[in-house]
Amino acid sequence: MKLWGGRFTKETNQLVHNFNESLTFDQKFYRQDIEGSIAHVKMLAKQGILSDKDREDIVKGLEDIRKELDSGKLVISSDSGYEDIHSFVEGTLTERIGEAGKRLHTGRSRNDQVALDMKLYARDEIDEIEGLVKNLLQELLTIMEANTDTFMPGFTHLQKAQPITLAHHMGAYFEMFSRDRSRLSDIRRRMNYCPLGSGALAGTTYPLDRAYTAELLGFSGPTLNSMDAVSDRDYLIELLSALSIISMHLSRFCEEIIIWNTNEYQFVELDDSYSTGSSIMPQKKNPDIAELIRGKSGRVYGGLVSLLTTMKGIPLAYNKDMQEDKELTFDVIDTVKGCLALFTGMISSMSFRKDMMETSAKKGFTNATDAADYLVNKGVAFRDAHGIVGQLVLLCIKKGIALDDLSLEEYKKISPVFEEDVYEAISMKTCVEKRVTVGGPGEAAMKSVIEIYRKQLEAESLL
Ligand code: ARG
Repeated sequence: MKLWGGRFTKETNQLVHNFNESLTFDQKFYRQDIEGSIAHVKMLAKQGILSDKDREDIVKGLEDIRKELDSGKLVISSDSGYEDIHSFVEGTLTERIGEAGKRLHTGRSRNDQVALDMKLYARDEIDEIEGLVKNLLQELLTIMEANTDTFMPGFTHLQKAQPITLAHHMGAYFEMFSRDRSRLSDIRRRMNYCPLGSGALAGTTYPLDRAYTAELLGFSGPTLNSMDAVSDRDYLIELLSALSIISMHLSRFCEEIIIWNTNEYQFVELDDSYSTGSSIMPQKKNPDIAELIRGKSGRVYGGLVSLLTTMKGIPLAYNKDMQEDKELTFDVIDTVKGCLALFTGMISSMSFRKDMMETSAKKGFTNATDAADYLVNKGVAFRDAHGIVGQLVLLCIKKGIALDDLSLEEYKKISPVFEEDVYEAISMKTCVEKRVTVGGPGEAAMKSVIEIYRKQLEAESLL
């Protein structure tokens, strides 16, 4: 069944139908389409535009269709001839309940209908993604709580720099994913206005109660410009952008896990259940999942750039170009949800080699800055201290040892200022413990931050 055709004298060319149709993909939001129609019909009846009997029949008919689609009793087939999910639902309803079904579309256009469906769909998905990000944050916090004294090297330029703790390193990702979470809630708040009642572009002549429909559907209110309402896809661009940032964060994290999981580092060991083998090299245990998540960031960014490009030349108001928003948005949402779930599973089953992390921090002269600070505290100018410790590092490299392993004699040979207390001053524990400013790795500072994070997560929801 077609929703149009009165003014046509010829059948649509089959290739045109195939190119134009969206049923193959917009069936993904059949639930939201039905939910929107039910609210619309309730509003029409309340306003006296539709009889109560029609309302009852339509609502019952739509609920039955939804139930049957949910259970699989009713199947949406692409060769049903329907152009889109809107025609499918209306057509199926009319087949079942007759005349009343034909009144469903009163005071509505597919333009405001699709704008609504996509918003409802995006909103549901935002809630689900927010939950997945929250699970990940919870997992990160668990790792942090257990590792406020697990020493490891902190890096700049991927060169060992200064000692930190595993809790501190995980905390950096906690911050990133917290921002992601709050970005999602910003988008949800900003987009939460109902476009239904905007008609094709210029509203309708029926006395609709748009505020009532908006309320029924959980929106903050109706949109205030019908032209914008049917052609606004900003919220999808914002969502794809937020999902791109989540992907970028996951990708960075995966890159680190891949490095940490190498034979050279051995900071972590991926669980067998989250690793894969090689068909030729029997010894291999590969981090495929981390690599795939890293790789999928390209696909996610692609969705963002596609939609931005599609939207950039569109004159007001609705144009069919906008149909292109669907497949790519669905793909990005599904991809990111998969990545978040898999990533959380991967890190919660991964084991951390605390011994290897600490040894690596010691061997990498990560306490060199602290050795220089030690001299400064004893009255040496920082630039001179820097030079002295540089010489000590050179000596250690020659001998293949750490700063902690030099004898006091060797220290004194380069600077007589060194005393026995140098060993305590440059121990991993001291180096970390002394960094007590807010945001630093020192245990006390870290614990108070963990407390803040815990409270943030316990607060019911950001949304
Ligand atoms: N499938 C269309 C879309 O996704 C629905 C809106 C169609 N509106 C129209 N005037 N043809 O955008």
